[in-house]
Amino acid sequence: MNTIKIDNLDTIRQAAKEFIAAMDDRTVFAFYGKMGAGKTTFIKAICEELGVEDVINSPTFAIINEYRSDETGELIYHFDYYRINKLSEAEDIGTEDYFYSGALCFIEWPEKIEELLPEDVVSVTISENADGSRSVEWK
Ligand SMILES: Nc1ncnc2c1ncn2[C@@H]1O[C@H](COP(=O)(O)OP(=O)(O)OP(=O)(O)O)[C@@H](O)[C@H]1O
Ligand SMILES: [Mg+2]
Repeated sequence: MNTIKIDNLDTIRQAAKEFIAAMDDRTVFAFYGKMGAGKTTFIKAICEELGVEDVINSPTFAIINEYRSDETGELIYHFDYYRINKLSEAEDIGTEDYFYSGALCFIEWPEKIEELLPEDVVSVTISENADGSRSVEWK
């Protein structure tokens, strides 16, 4: 089990750097965690650390957000399936094409589309501690 502690927002970029350093060749990351746990914030920090320059907003309305790393030119996808009610809605927007494209995919609310996750998905859990810090755990 890998664990990263994010003490506060001032140190989140360092935490993102550690997460990236620990990444292997798997490209699909499912971020589990309660509402407000910090999924969007951490994914945003990872994307910024990967060289995404555009301001990344919380994908509140869009299910799929596409970013480009200005460092590598590669596309990165950020999904938020919170508002998905039926698996077919996720299928209709091409979820599986993205997951198997080889591009990095960071997913919020993967519980909604569990059946569509690839076998080698990296399951990441973010939880808020009593002191407001966050713990990020994955295998
Ligand atoms: N590591 C952190 N340290 C301190 N505050 C944080 C941290 N991560 C997130 N927050 C704060 O917690 C709030 C919720 O964060 P965020 O929107 O990232 O949660 P979320 O898990 O994406 O929630 P949702 O399930 O609603 O999408 C924000 O106000 C954010 O600034
Ligand atoms: Mg979010």
